[in-house]
Amino acid sequence: MADPRRQIRQRLDSLKAAGVEFVPAVPPVPLPVPEPVELSVSNSTLFDATEAAPVGDRGIALDILRHEVSRCEKCPDLFSTRTQTVFGVGPMSAALCFVGEAPGADEDAQGEPFVGRAGQLLNKIIVASGFQREEVYICNTLKCRPPGNRTPAPQECENCRGYFERQIDLVQPQYICALGGVSAQNLLNTKIGITKLRGKVHHYRGIPVVCTFHPAYLLRNPPAKKDCWEDMKFLLGQMGRPVPVLGG
Ligand code: URA
Repeated sequence: MADPRRQIRQRLDSLKAAGVEFVPAVPPVPLPVPEPVELSVSNSTLFDATEAAPVGDRGIALDILRHEVSRCEKCPDLFSTRTQTVFGVGPMSAALCFVGEAPGADEDAQGEPFVGRAGQLLNKIIVASGFQREEVYICNTLKCRPPGNRTPAPQECENCRGYFERQIDLVQPQYICALGGVSAQNLLNTKIGITKLRGKVHHYRGIPVVCTFHPAYLLRNPPAKKDCWEDMKFLLGQMGRPVPVLGG
């Protein structure tokens, strides 16, 4: 759009060049108000984990959160003994998110959840259920390894809750599978044991949650694997996915 001030100056200049020395005063002409311009990216979406936030913005916000978590010093016992924090792994908007309790020694060393023996069993559960590990999101309710793999203290769970909530808000999985009692109780803010939580659909901030035994428990109690498989079939049914036929 042409600048009206510039147009007036050009007109005055050409009048002056033509020998006109005086122009009578006229009432001021209101300047046109420019049309509002719509920006394609708004800064406010960067930290706004609403459904409308684009995946790219949520990914950036998740990286910022990961960095914030890596510097966390809220739990003296955990912060002083950890090698590193273990944030989570997997794609944004994953159809399914597995949530464990807290990193163990292998996860603390590698910085990725479920990479030790329990993780190998979880990988088998994921594949048996018709997914690849790379297509699900995996995290823990706690981001640091409790020393000696002790059960996290209630205050430690509370300290990590905000991180976990923001993480899930940003990833926006369609379904959650809680692995073990501590994870399920943290997620669902309940004291009910895992045995009673199994076999039902719960909800975490609007996301359907199915609970099953922790893979580490399954390693100690192999007969419970069949119960875990029942839970996975139940979850797949909820998700509207086919149940793969198990071989051998
Ligand atoms: N157990 C968990 O709960 N999470 C891990 O990441 C590893 C073992």
